[in-house]
Amino acid sequence: MKFIFIEGATPIDEDERQDLIPRHIQTQDELNAFENLNIAQIMPWAHKQQNLLSVRFLKTLHKRMFGHTWKWAGEFRKSQKNIGIEAYRIESELHQLCGDIQYQIQHTAFSLDEIAIRFHHRLVFIHAFVNGNGRHARLACDLLIQNLGNSGFSWGSKTYNHNDLSSLNDMRKAYISALKSADKGDYEKLIEFSRG
Ligand SMILES: Nc1ncnc2c1ncn2[C@@H]1O[C@H](COP(=O)(O)OP(=O)(O)O)[C@@H](O)[C@H]1O
Ligand SMILES: [Mg+2]
Repeated sequence: MKFIFIEGATPIDEDERQDLIPRHIQTQDELNAFENLNIAQIMPWAHKQQNLLSVRFLKTLHKRMFGHTWKWAGEFRKSQKNIGIEAYRIESELHQLCGDIQYQIQHTAFSLDEIAIRFHHRLVFIHAFVNGNGRHARLACDLLIQNLGNSGFSWGSKTYNHNDLSSLNDMRKAYISALKSADKGDYEKLIEFSRG
């Protein structure tokens, strides 16, 4: 099986590839299409959820998004990746993150968009799962901001064209660069990207 990775995508090891549920998938495009279909199908369920800030919900969301695709959907990763915290700290860090975000909401510590974007950034920084962390953290963040009363984020789709590979690559670069600024405590670029 051939996998092609664009910049910022997490490589999957050989053993992890064994964990793909659909046996007919041969190419990255087929995999993407299969994953996208699975994710699209859970949207009605996702939009009905209320208690988003819990470890249990974050696991369930991943399981629902990728449960037809990967055997380990909804399970935390057990090995180290090039991105992400040490695997054994994932559960406690997610718990802490949920508590911090609840506190920020209760005390209006930042604008609602900034709170949601801080949540997104820390969620991908933790990188709880083997794969799908970006999509999971963007959806979790969209659900949160919608529950808080704002519209969902556009994640660059107003600025960049999804049907043009080079534009898609620029979008990815802008997103990763904004995440790196957020690593240093500057959330402005990521907030701007998420609404652009
Ligand atoms: N250099 C980086 N620094 C911080 N986060 C990154 C970096 N590269 C990728 N990411 C985050 O990790 C995600 C990719 O991880 P992955 O688990 O493959 O998610 P997905 O399969 O949904 O793309 C990106 O969408 C981004 O959110
Ligand atoms: Mg990936």
